[in-house]
Amino acid sequence: MKSTYTSTAKALHWLIVALLIVQFLLAWTMPHIGRDTPLTMLINLHFSFGMLILFVVVVRLIWRVTHAEPEPEDSVPPWQHRSAQLVHRLLYLLLLVVPILGWINANWRDYPVTLFSLFQMPKIMATRAPGWQWTGDLHGLLANYAMLALVGLHVVGALYHYLIRRDQVLQRMLPGWPGKASSVR
Ligand code: HEM
Ligand code: HEM
Repeated sequence: MKSTYTSTAKALHWLIVALLIVQFLLAWTMPHIGRDTPLTMLINLHFSFGMLILFVVVVRLIWRVTHAEPEPEDSVPPWQHRSAQLVHRLLYLLLLVVPILGWINANWRDYPVTLFSLFQMPKIMATRAPGWQWTGDLHGLLANYAMLALVGLHVVGALYHYLIRRDQVLQRMLPGWPGKASSVR
């Protein structure tokens, strides 16, 4: 049988991709956040989607440490497999660090953080705590540059397997693959 990710791992992967698309669109269209920027709806939505991403990533990491990744495809050289794993680990790290820095910075700026106004999140940083101003800049830089660069590398890698090597690496993350018929053989 061909090795593939579990349907839970696939669902969590694609849910995070969808949430990140919304989150970047919000980040790029919300007003630039400065000293006395009022908390508009777009900024509030950016906080809520960010907290939702953080929650889903924690669930995904718990799933991941309790479920190994599928065996690598035979045709993939070990160095490529190790590089892909490194990119995956860095993506997981950023998916945790970026929203936590955003949360710290929102609290530092004295914004309340809620999950779609349903739950009030705890305040994890004192307002204007001296020495913590950099958290906002680092949050934006890591999201806009490090995360997008790594995602770019990751997607180029997936397309290289699909279009050039023509192996099954991309399919391992696609819903419904390998399908009942092909898994019987
Ligand atoms: C994976 C989740 C997140 C991503 C990808 C993300 C992305 C971004 C990006 C790209 C910017 C810069 C916008 C620009 O270009 O000017 C930004 C700014 C900001 N985000 Fe997020 N964000 C995330 C989660 C959060 C969360 C959870 C919060 C708060 C609860 C938050 C609060 C902020 C704040 C306060 C700023 C302004 C920072 C500053 O310029 O000083 N973000 N975010
Ligand atoms: C269209 C965009 C994307 C495609 C085509 C794609 C494709 C894939 C594929 C094929 C795998 C399995 C790789 C393997 O078997 O070695 C994978 C795994 C992974 N992807 Fe993506 N991906 C996309 C976007 C993203 C984004 C935006 C993120 C997060 C920022 C992400 C994070 C991950 C992680 C962390 C894994 C490792 C899963 C694990 O083993 O725990 N992907 N992706």
